[in-house]
Amino acid sequence: MIIAVDGPTASGKGTIAKALAAHFGLPHLDTGLLYRAVGWQTKLNGGDPDNAEDALAACGFHDSLLANTELRSEAVGGLASKVSVHPQVREALFERQRAFATQAGGAVLDGRDIGTVIAPEAEVKLYVTASTAARAERRFREMRDLGREVPLRDLVDQLEARDERDKGRKDAPLAIAKDAFVLDTTELGKDDAIAQAIAVVVQVTGRS
Ligand code: DC
Repeated sequence: MIIAVDGPTASGKGTIAKALAAHFGLPHLDTGLLYRAVGWQTKLNGGDPDNAEDALAACGFHDSLLANTELRSEAVGGLASKVSVHPQVREALFERQRAFATQAGGAVLDGRDIGTVIAPEAEVKLYVTASTAARAERRFREMRDLGREVPLRDLVDQLEARDERDKGRKDAPLAIAKDAFVLDTTELGKDDAIAQAIAVVVQVTGRS
């Protein structure tokens, strides 16, 4: 069973994907982390994330980079969004994601193009979204908990810029798959959002 969880930044898709993986006993891959690693490695190399060659050269990043907490920052999210525009980068990361999705026993993957490109055959596709204000508010609290005070207005601007780039790119843009179930988490607490996602999977697959 493949479960695809797509959606914009700070929509709650990562939290939901993790919870689904735990509930159904499946391995989970946060594909955004791969793009974040490429963005960060590009920077470490002194390269330009808008340059396709520089970004492609960073795709051979060492796996130990994936554990770097710096990858979670919004600054690296922005770099990831920039490198993810290049088709060469998407192609370089494709096999790794595809292999994870098709492993025996199934998997949960979250990202932007899982239900549309990486695993269009996924049994369950969730598109998790929330209003910009709700997403910025969540990011604000997350950052504050990490001891970083970032003005809410800046977060709204960053989210909007990232949404625009992720939705507007030519190759594998963020889009709702035809057969996806849209879960709007604007008014939902974490537990309710997870419960609804589990209910969708149970309903579609008959697994509990
Ligand atoms: O989900 P995230 O915020 O960690 O993703 C960071 C960036 O990586 C996102 O802005 C766009 C890119 N990305 C992508 O293009 N395709 C994916 N499947 C996952 C992330």
